[in-house]
Amino acid sequence: MDTSHADLRPLPRRLLDWVALFERLDRADRDAMVAHFAALGEEDRRLRFGVAVDDSVIARYVDGIDFERDVVFGARGAPGQWVGIGHLVLDGKAAELGLSVLPQARGHGLGAAIFRYAVVRAARAGYGRLYMHCLTRNRAIMSIARNAGMSIESGGGEADAYLIVPPYPEFARMLTGESAP
Ligand SMILES: CC(C)(COP(=O)(O)OP(=O)(O)OC[C@H]1O[C@@H](n2cnc3c(N)ncnc32)[C@H](O)[C@@H]1OP(=O)(O)O)[C@@H](O)C(=O)NCCC(=O)NCCS
Repeated sequence: MDTSHADLRPLPRRLLDWVALFERLDRADRDAMVAHFAALGEEDRRLRFGVAVDDSVIARYVDGIDFERDVVFGARGAPGQWVGIGHLVLDGKAAELGLSVLPQARGHGLGAAIFRYAVVRAARAGYGRLYMHCLTRNRAIMSIARNAGMSIESGGGEADAYLIVPPYPEFARMLTGESAP
């Protein structure tokens, strides 16, 4: 199905509504997932994956996803068209997040919703750090992290940053604005 010109409007305006639209992706969503990443331009692909990737690398990346182990989720703007996707890898040793939103759906809080949902899942699973192959010059993701009360740390380079994930109860308190008992 060609969904490349699908009209994405109306888009939700509130973060909460995006969360309500979240669905888990599975192997059956493989082609739509490849189409989502293929729709990202060169710079967006670099921001998402940390390096420049062509279509064949994207296809291999999607084919390598373990949909049972990982939390792969997102929101659709039209059937078969994922406007935003989060891929949270929870492999036992480390948690790693990659997220992307199609350019025409940006600025509506979807990136922030994906980020927060993933941080909560990592915190609930007991992970203390969340890695992201992201460039520290990525102002959008920095802003998303800051607005969630968190900061992204890097080892000094411009890639491979990470977040310190607070214990789950603490993160829940941060979101609700409550102070510790
Ligand atoms: C990062 C990304 C997911 C954000 O998606 P989004 O849906 O536009 O995010 P939001 O609408 O939740 O915006 C979040 C914040 O980022 C800010 N922002 C968005 N683009 C920005 C930019 N280019 N420069 C500075 N801030 C920006 C918004 O103003 C908003 O901050 P505010 O709430 O204080 O106004 C999206 O830009 C994207 O897919 N980029 C390419 C891939 C990528 O960078 N992934 C992250 C690393 S894995």
